[in-house]
Amino acid sequence: HNASFRLDPAFTIAPVSRRTFGTFVEHMGRCVYTGIYEPTHPTADADGFRQDVLELTRELGVSVVRYPGGNFVSGYRWEDGIGPVADRPVRRDLAWHSLETNEVGIDEFMRWAGKAGVEVMYALNLGTRGVQEALDVQEYLNHPDRTRLAEMRRANGADEPYGVTMFCLGNELDGPWQTGHKTAHEYGRLAAETARALRAAEPWLELVAVGSSGSSMPTFATWESEVLELTYDQIDYISAHAYYEPIDGDLGSFLASAVDMDHFINSVVATADSVGARLKSRKRLKISFDEWNVWYLRRFQAVQETEWNIAPRVIEDSYNVADAVVVGSLLISLLRHSDRVPAACQAQLVNVIAPIRTEPGGPAWRQTIFHPFAITARLARGDVLRVEPAAPLYPTDRFGDVPVVDAVATHDPESGEVTVFVVNRSQDSAASLAVPLAGFAWSLQVAEAWTLHDDDLEATNTADAPDRVTPSTLDEVSVVDGELRATLAPVSWSAIRMT
Ligand code: AHR
Repeated sequence: HNASFRLDPAFTIAPVSRRTFGTFVEHMGRCVYTGIYEPTHPTADADGFRQDVLELTRELGVSVVRYPGGNFVSGYRWEDGIGPVADRPVRRDLAWHSLETNEVGIDEFMRWAGKAGVEVMYALNLGTRGVQEALDVQEYLNHPDRTRLAEMRRANGADEPYGVTMFCLGNELDGPWQTGHKTAHEYGRLAAETARALRAAEPWLELVAVGSSGSSMPTFATWESEVLELTYDQIDYISAHAYYEPIDGDLGSFLASAVDMDHFINSVVATADSVGARLKSRKRLKISFDEWNVWYLRRFQAVQETEWNIAPRVIEDSYNVADAVVVGSLLISLLRHSDRVPAACQAQLVNVIAPIRTEPGGPAWRQTIFHPFAITARLARGDVLRVEPAAPLYPTDRFGDVPVVDAVATHDPESGEVTVFVVNRSQDSAASLAVPLAGFAWSLQVAEAWTLHDDDLEATNTADAPDRVTPSTLDEVSVVDGELRATLAPVSWSAIRMT
């Protein structure tokens, strides 16, 4: 089939936001312990961090990391994780039915983030805690000196404040599974007062109110509406979380997951804007899509209720080729909405539904989904361009008729570089892509082109075969007579950079 779209440097959506390429480290399963941190590992540095994981994190191109949860944060006492490690308590983590040793806390994580070169988006516990504890952790993180908590931080080795600017006001409090689950009204009031107090110290903070845990939540949209009525003036972002998986082997719908992400974003934007209109506010809220990924949730086994283990193996999904194509297409959706979604975190970074896997004492490797993320983070530069692909539709059970080809592009006005990110969702035919480049430098040529595709859609990367699935160069691509032409394999994701 044929697919085409117009590209015009004047049709910009927004600048590419580096925060689109965020990730998430939760104290969950083996994300922290034996993920980023494993003092006995052969690659561990003096602080106990696995350097193999640090290197892969840098290669992934991550910009911001949400920490320390997740469901975990809703029962977390941040002060358990500071000071001499020997004095730190072991606690129950009710969210994942495991034991938290608190060996890693704020100061260790901030050190790791410095080494990884990433910003930290700090999530506050508004499940079991409230305004005072939020103020305390803010003081510990950000107050320069002379106060009790700032001096405590300095005594713990961090002379300078950490300068965290983005705070999540809790996590998934709309979900009945959340410790301290709340009604929209209960949560909205708490979030508004917490935000007001935090801003009294630091008016410039960027604050994220909890949105829906998923678009299928029974309270979806009414939760946003009620929460935003109470918090609109105090916050900057509303969060969104979405996880996708093939259901009953329905690959066609699964490959169209980004259609659902588009719909989710559009619905939250519409809801937020309607609250803004009711409040006669000119302020436009943004979305922090701070949990998204493929997650085989239907395979998820809750931990045995009789067991309390440290860093158990939880949701260590192995990702295949189709999953990587979907992740690439979800990044296309996020980029397309850069005007309203300037921040997003793939959940999570290591082992727990993650692009990076490790074995304790053993190797670290890139899962299939690592590749579209790393390539998009590296190549998306400048402005996001509006793209309206014309392509045949195919029917899906879950999302109706869906275009076989979806795409987005970025253009860097300074270098003149143009990059196209494109997915072919067809399961049986290649797509012939034709994109006229009028409006750009006549000299544009393909500088690099990558594709993620494999005849075996189920192929995965493992400790023994870590590079079974990697991107290959896209061969059938060229600029001819001012037109980009490419052939895209069935079920493939590709990126084409032109200079
Ligand atoms: O990322 C795994 C979990 O998914 C998070 O802890 C929670 O916020 C979401 O339900």
